[in-house]
Amino acid sequence: MHRIVRKEMVAPNTAMFHVEAPWIARKAKPGQFIIVRLDEMGERIPLSLSGWDPVAGTLRLIVQAVGYTTMKMVALNEGDFILDVAGPLGAHTHLPPEGTLVVIGGGYGAGAVLPNAHEAKSGGRRVLGIIGARTKELVLMEQEMRAICDETFITTDDGSYGITGVVTDALKIILDREKVGAILAVGPVPMMRAVSDMTKPMAIPTLVSLNAIMVDGTGMCGGCRVVVGGETKFACFDGPDFDGHVVDYDLLVRRQKMYKPQEAQALEHACKIDQQVRALR
Ligand SMILES: Cc1cc2nc3c(=O)[nH]c(=O)nc-3n(C[C@H](O)[C@H](O)[C@H](O)COP(=O)(O)OP(=O)(O)OC[C@H]3O[C@@H](n4cnc5c(N)ncnc54)[C@H](O)[C@@H]3O)c2cc1C
Ligand code: FES
Repeated sequence: MHRIVRKEMVAPNTAMFHVEAPWIARKAKPGQFIIVRLDEMGERIPLSLSGWDPVAGTLRLIVQAVGYTTMKMVALNEGDFILDVAGPLGAHTHLPPEGTLVVIGGGYGAGAVLPNAHEAKSGGRRVLGIIGARTKELVLMEQEMRAICDETFITTDDGSYGITGVVTDALKIILDREKVGAILAVGPVPMMRAVSDMTKPMAIPTLVSLNAIMVDGTGMCGGCRVVVGGETKFACFDGPDFDGHVVDYDLLVRRQKMYKPQEAQALEHACKIDQQVRALR
């Protein structure tokens, strides 16, 4: 059992948790993730590590409520417990070692890129950050990104904050003015694909974190199969970070949609239970 020692709502439907898991906090590396199961009947969901504290023995997670389990998790509070936390899973991100690093985060990705930004900055590297969101209130982890990075750009689709536009608009500003050694992008697939499309002709090494559907997280079940450079890989074991220029994004999107009917059913079931509980109050 893993106690939630701190919870803060950081945007609508998005919570930041600090969760006790001392042995994972001692071993975690940037780019790795965990799989949580909230209770005995719960599904296993992968969550990126947005930070950890080996002394306090805690992990920091940013969770966006998009479906049944993430909604259930965002409803948990300080002092509540999570049944299982498995990890650290996945590989330490293998970034090219030199040159300016640009980290790009959309949604929970803004938290997920922070450990890599921190590691690169501590190693003496120039680090630039880009956070993209639909609107101002959805911008995540701005203060921490600004504290780590030499310069931080915010983009909002509706222009309510920062640059009006998407993350590639900010990336273009950077690429027009300076040489970049590597890019790490974590966020929705269309965002990672657009970043990769922009940097491919310039041959700038670009890593993306593949959010494939995962089950066991150990490379055994095959649930997270992705195709990268024509080869089959397991996102949970070989990744989740891969060369964005050679990812088969169409296949990734098709596989992500595989469980849509079951996901809809789970949500409908949850809504019905909610309604019944409200009726009893
Ligand atoms: C390596 C990895 C790290 C992740 N890190 C985080 C994180 O730090 N914070 C966070 O909030 N989410 C993260 N995700 C996504 C998260 O695991 C899914 O949002 C979650 O599994 C959805 O479960 P659900 O039951 O709430 O929704 P479901 O009802 O199962 O799904 C709802 C919708 O969410 C989307 N979805 C489902 N599974 C995934 C998935 N694996 N990846 C992306 N979208 C999905 C689909 O569009 C789906 O229709 C990560 C995913 C991966 C693979
Ligand atoms: S989740 Fe099972 S092989 Fe990756």
